[in-house]
This record gives sequence, C-alpha cells and structure tokens, in this order.
Amino acid sequence: MSLTVSVFGTGYLGATHAAGMAELGHTVIGIDVDEAKIARLSRGEVPFFEPGLPELIRKHVDSGRLRFTTDASVAAAEADVHFIGVGTPQRKGENAADMRFVDAVIETLAPQLTRPSVILGKSTVPVGTAARLAARVRELAPVGADAELAWNPEFLREGFAVEDTLRPDRLVLGVDKASAGRAEAMAREVYAQVLDRGTPFLVTDLATAELVKVSANAFLATKISFINAIAEICEVTGADVKELADAIGYDERIGRKFLGAGLGFGGGCLPKDIRAFQARAGELGVGHSLNFLREVDEVNLRRREHVVGLAAKCVGGVLHGAKVAVLGAAFKPNSDDVRDSPALDAAGKLYLAGADVRVYDPEAADNARAVSPKLTYSSSLEEACAGAEVILVATEWNEFKQMDPEVVAGMVAARKVIDGRNCLDPQRWIDAGWEYHGMGRFA
Ligand code: UDX
Repeated sequence: MSLTVSVFGTGYLGATHAAGMAELGHTVIGIDVDEAKIARLSRGEVPFFEPGLPELIRKHVDSGRLRFTTDASVAAAEADVHFIGVGTPQRKGENAADMRFVDAVIETLAPQLTRPSVILGKSTVPVGTAARLAARVRELAPVGADAELAWNPEFLREGFAVEDTLRPDRLVLGVDKASAGRAEAMAREVYAQVLDRGTPFLVTDLATAELVKVSANAFLATKISFINAIAEICEVTGADVKELADAIGYDERIGRKFLGAGLGFGGGCLPKDIRAFQARAGELGVGHSLNFLREVDEVNLRRREHVVGLAAKCVGGVLHGAKVAVLGAAFKPNSDDVRDSPALDAAGKLYLAGADVRVYDPEAADNARAVSPKLTYSSSLEEACAGAEVILVATEWNEFKQMDPEVVAGMVAARKVIDGRNCLDPQRWIDAGWEYHGMGRFA
C-alpha cells in the first residue's frame, strides 16, 4: 500500500531515505530548516556527492512523488509516518552527541499532530533517547496516545547509500512497550517491498534498537583498529598485514571485511559514535565497559602520526620545506565527505610540520578547502605530484589505484610513495624504481 511519509533532515541520511521511500512507492515530503538546501533539492540537485542519488531524487521530484519543504506543518497534516533523519554530531569539546536537532524535530512536529501518527527515529542516538522522546511526544501531541514513537536505526554507508536503503541487510525496529503497537504494523507497510524479499526484520525494545546501531559501529571501528594495531607489530617484524588479514579472514568467525589496514577510519559516523557511546556509558555508570573503545580511537589516530613520520623519513628527516603530494582528502573513496577524514588530518599534520603540501581529491576539494583553508589544493593528479619528493596515497580512489608508476615517475622529483591505504601493487611500483612504503607491510 502506498503511504504518505515525511522525512525530517535532508543530509546524507535524510535525503537518501526520502528518495528511497519514494522509490518504494510512497509519497514523500522531505523537511529541513535549511532553506537553501530545500530549494536545491526541489530542483533535483543534491548538495553532496553520493553515487546514484541525484538520479533517484530527480526521478521522483519529476514524478511528483517527492517534494521538499521547510514547513513542518505540511508533514504533520499529510503524513502517516514521520522519519527523523537529522544529524547527531559530536558536541564541541566533548565526546557526547549533540541532540539539539533531534529534540527540535519532536518539539516542532509533536504539537502539530492532529491525526494518528507514527514517528520512526533513524538518527544514531545515545541509548535512552527514544524512551525520553516517546514520553515527550505523548506530552506534546494533541492526539495523545495516538501518536507513537519507535526507533528504526539506519546502517547505510556513504557511497552505497541508495543500495543500502533499498536493499538493507536487516531492518531493526525498537518499539515502546507502553504503546498501542501501531508502529510495527506501520513499519511493515512502509517496508513491505523490502520485507517481501525476505530481509530479516528484528522487532525489539527501544533501548536494544538504539544499542544495535552504536554496537555495530563500535564493532566495525574495533575491527579496523585491531588490524591497524597488528599492522604496527608487522612494521617492526617485517611481517605483511595484508597476507595476515587474508589468512585470518578465511576463518568465517572472523571474516575478511573491515580488516583493511591503513590510515584508519574517519567520516561522520564511526569516530563520533564510538566517542558518544563511551560518554553515554560513563553517564550510566558503566564507563569501564567501553574503556577499550578509547584504545580503538587511539590506535586509529596513531596511524595518522605514523604516515607523517614515514614522510619525514622519506625526505631525510626534515619535513620543513619538503614537497609532499597528498592524494585524497575524503575519508573514503566515492564520497566528498571530509568529516574526521584521516587523509585531510594527515595533510594538516604535514603542513604543520612545515612541508609544502599539495592536496588533490577528485570530489572532496571544495569541502576540504572549507574546513582546511590553509592547505594548497591541486586540480589534478599531475599538478599535485609535480616536483613532489614523496607521494602519500591517503584515500583509495580508483584514479589513484590505477596510477601507472612509470607515468607518475615523470612528474615527481623523487620516486617515493607511501601507500596509506595499501591500495597499490607494491611490486609494480618497486619494479618501476620506486621506494614503496605500505601500512603494516613493505614498511
Ligand atoms: C559507517 C558504517 O559502515 C555504516 O553501517 C553506518 O551506518 C555509518 O558508519 P561510513 O561512515 O559510510 O559507514 O563508512 P565505512 O564504509 O564504514 O568506512 C568507515 C571508515 O573506515 C572509512 O574511513 C574507511 O576508509 C575505513 N575503513 C573501512 C578502513 O580503514 N579499513 C577497512 O577495512 C574498512
């Protein structure tokens, strides 16, 4: 059955979810307080890089199934289901998440609800938030108990956001045991097409649903830091972390995914989520349970220092004045997101050490310039590498993976490359006369 749904927040999560819901056949109203963003989305323009999303948004803006507005009353009047997809960034100077935007949605929407409605939270929130918001909705909504809040965490990855929205590997719904139980029935209708494909649907309580999301991200972050810690051991023993990861990854209990050693994790989710999770555990009096996540964070940040040290070694110990090409600014390929980006952080550290840094990224340069304006940005690989004494591959874009070492040799001043993502073929570069340094291999 086709429903009318609203999606509050039109960032990576909200915009993708809105387009995904339209693709599933629903009529969708995307809401945001940012007028400029709403104007662009209404024209079918996506303010960030996400493969496949502009096409999907244009398709459904044109079909009339998807529209955007800043007016929350439209959503309150028309929609059967309201999704919350606003951000929960890290608070300045603290580890905890900033709940301002989520709270604002409830404070704006709930008093305007005049019909039985279901609110499904998707944002990543500290455990306990959904119960608090459910009570707040009951307090504020004129329709009282006919307004129900449940939590439906989102697991999408940037770069695969459309695919992950339309074909998630599981759906999780946390319901308020005190409610009438309409949320589950409504969620089943919203996701009918996805569920018909046999997608696992786990219905649980609010706290478990909130924790599923942060635990999943904490596990992924831990897996990456685990392999990066092992990479440190490989570096002092001459072992090869990639071969090691292949070997342990064949054990199905371990699995090969997320064992990519390199510059570590970044982005708008994993770093802030593991910090907010620790902060919340501390508030709950069980901070010790997540002490290991502090170590996960530290291993991760240490990798950025490591490449700076390697670059210094490559140029004879003194970075001051050394020409360094940094290839990549985005936190991962197929994204223009530079939030907590290991690539941009490493570039900044090299700059602070006095190096003459040239950064090139095929998509993220504008965002990078906005947050790190002092760095010098090149508009091509050739320009960044011209006269470089060392090259640091910091994001594994295809353009970098496919570089021909013979061709790049013609651009640089010295054939030295640091493969910060273990994404090049070491032998090919060594055969072309390069000094090659990997992460946890060919140290
Ligand atoms: C992540 C989760 O995967 C997703 O489920 C959640 O909803 C949001 O957070 P995302 O931030 O888009 O998604 O990126 P992801 O692909 O998970 O990568 C995170 C970071 O880990 C990137 O910086 C990536 O380069 C790094 N990474 C990933 C590694 O360093 N090694 C790996 O083996 C895998």
